[in-house]
Amino acid sequence: MNILITGGAGFIGSHIGDALIAAGHRVIVVDNLSTGRKENIPPQAVFYEADIRDREYMENIFSQEHIEAVYHEAAQTMVPYSLAHPWEDAELNVMGLVGILELCRRHTVRKFIFSSSAAVYGDNTRVPLKETEATTPLSFYGLTKCTAEAYIRMYHDIFQVPYVILRYANVYGERQGGNGEGGVVFVFSQALAQGKEITVFGDGEQTRDFVYVKDVARANVCALQANGTEGTYNIATNIETTVNALKEMLVYIAGTPTHVHYEPARSGDIYRSVLANTKAVQDLGWEPTTKLLGGLQQTYRYFAGEVGK
Ligand SMILES: NC(=O)c1ccc[n+]([C@@H]2O[C@H](COP(=O)([O-])OP(=O)(O)OC[C@H]3O[C@@H](n4cnc5c(N)ncnc54)[C@H](O)[C@@H]3O)[C@@H](O)[C@H]2O)c1
Repeated sequence: MNILITGGAGFIGSHIGDALIAAGHRVIVVDNLSTGRKENIPPQAVFYEADIRDREYMENIFSQEHIEAVYHEAAQTMVPYSLAHPWEDAELNVMGLVGILELCRRHTVRKFIFSSSAAVYGDNTRVPLKETEATTPLSFYGLTKCTAEAYIRMYHDIFQVPYVILRYANVYGERQGGNGEGGVVFVFSQALAQGKEITVFGDGEQTRDFVYVKDVARANVCALQANGTEGTYNIATNIETTVNALKEMLVYIAGTPTHVHYEPARSGDIYRSVLANTKAVQDLGWEPTTKLLGGLQQTYRYFAGEVGK
């Protein structure tokens, strides 16, 4: 299949590209390199350096490359930025998305796969959260993901654009940047690799559901292959890990004693976050196979190598 990945030079998009190429697909990447890196893009992929909001340019790509499926990863991913710049956030995450959906409709794309987020749930303590829970986001970023989901469902209901929505928990792994959602693994790994102290906000007993990026990439391939699976799925491990436990594992992996500094909790930080993955396991035939310690070892090795460059 000819598959477009928007944001394919980014952390998650580039791993999806690797997995699709390994599965025998032809991959086309559109990325403006605002946070992504050219060296992340699989060498076999066709790359266009462009902004997804350039509608004429995108129309040409859809025509020339005969796009059959789309992974939409390009987004503004920073919660604090969304609060400081709501217009820019919505312009990319909502209007940018509508532009791509419109092209999918006109070019009769066979599947549209979207990266949504645990941010749609807000601070709901009925963990592990199922997809049926209400969406009550706490940030404009979360709100753009809810709005994007609503557009995607309506494009399906009115124009029959086939879709799968994947709500990621905290994704971590090689090529991650410090700004996005799951940044704590990046921040701790980089500090350890550089011999700096670690800062923990709050008491460190807050929990997150850390899912390894290669498992997330595999979930995306499953979402393409599975038939009759239109819908919304949590992509998560269903395992709660405290920030203190994460820090202990990374300190153990790095093998260097480090000073840990505790700061007051940041306002708006959710205390417990874990998503149920039963629906994805049943309907997509996917399950996460990477244990946290193993995934962190791969990730730390990557960041230590980057620091050494
Ligand atoms: N990292 C996580 O834990 C996490 C969790 C939930 C959801 N997500 C979602 O997954 C998707 C990918 O996130 P990521 O962590 O890989 O972030 P990332 O910043 O590494 O990737 C985003 C990519 O989009 C590109 N991009 C941004 N604006 C663009 C534009 N206007 N035109 C073209 N390209 C543009 C960037 O250059 C970058 O390569 C995002 O939609 C994000 O909201 C991520």
